[in-house]
Amino acid sequence: MAAKLISTGFRHTTLPENYVRPISDRPRLSEVSELEDFPLIDLSSTDRSRLVQQIHQACARFGFFQVINHGVSKETVDEMVSVANEFFDMSMEEKMKLYSDDPTKTTRLSTSFNVKKEEVNNWRDYLRLHCHPIHKYVHEWPSNPPSFKEVVSRYSREVREVGFRVEELISESLGLDKDHMKNVLGEQGQHMAVNYYPPCPEPELTFGLPAHTDPNALTILLQDTTVCGLQILIDGHWFAVNPRPDAFVINIGDQLQALSNGVYKSVWHRAITNTEKPRLSIASFLCPSDCAVMSPAKPLWEAEEGETKPIYRDFTYAEYYKKFWSRNLDQEHCLENFLNH
Ligand code: OGA
Ligand code: NI
Repeated sequence: MAAKLISTGFRHTTLPENYVRPISDRPRLSEVSELEDFPLIDLSSTDRSRLVQQIHQACARFGFFQVINHGVSKETVDEMVSVANEFFDMSMEEKMKLYSDDPTKTTRLSTSFNVKKEEVNNWRDYLRLHCHPIHKYVHEWPSNPPSFKEVVSRYSREVREVGFRVEELISESLGLDKDHMKNVLGEQGQHMAVNYYPPCPEPELTFGLPAHTDPNALTILLQDTTVCGLQILIDGHWFAVNPRPDAFVINIGDQLQALSNGVYKSVWHRAITNTEKPRLSIASFLCPSDCAVMSPAKPLWEAEEGETKPIYRDFTYAEYYKKFWSRNLDQEHCLENFLNH
């Protein structure tokens, strides 16, 4: 059965069959723990060397961290959240104008993950947008709610700056020139996924998003401040990353794992659902330009005694992205397909 939008306002009392996972592949929520030492990084700190050290520890150990004092105003964040909620509150008729199952479309409202490929669907609707260069895409964006274009352009521009600052810190924390990542990634694309997870009748039987790693370079996530749902896999155990007001959650994507020669990890994460409240999350993805060649930084693999080649072979982002979307979300880590033999 084909998946359909679930942000209809209708409260399901049982989970439709096409969302039910096999027993071996369920969230097992009672086994999830709180993460006590989840890194929190204050981007306004003037102690650069400490900041760089904190980034190093966070990226090598967790692949995930939170940032505060990031420079995006509270007003911009609040308006982004409001406009996203207003979007999902619109009528089905209005929303269906943007519906598409085709992952190559640059602006689309869809559901689950990749309904053409997957066997079991996920309890999520999402609006996907390309955000850079804005002038190329803004005319495709939703024109309702009326403030959508203005608010989303402002938010994406400001978030992009946060991403660039973090990329500089990441480069420095690997002992590379501060502009290393920026230079290798080329003119970076930027995509947004506005994820909407309606209340789910049986959160133990399904996922909002099953375990995956992000295929891009860096992800900057704005989480609903009141509803938990994001979980990350550390040492084989699932941990909840609970929202903190005024913070973004940032994670390393597959491309930064490749460029760091595996020093930094693109960590498995997932979103779970709850019975009570809808949950909103807004992910901004910074992506290498299509023709950028992902080549692990030489100083990182040469530093290993006797190493004559990096862990991963060179590939373009276009090649990687094609591979990513041809798979199922919960298969092996997509980078496994790019190992140097
Ligand atoms: C994603 C993602 C997590 C969340 O969109 O790639 O991992 O909490 N989202 O919605
Ligand atoms: Ni993700």
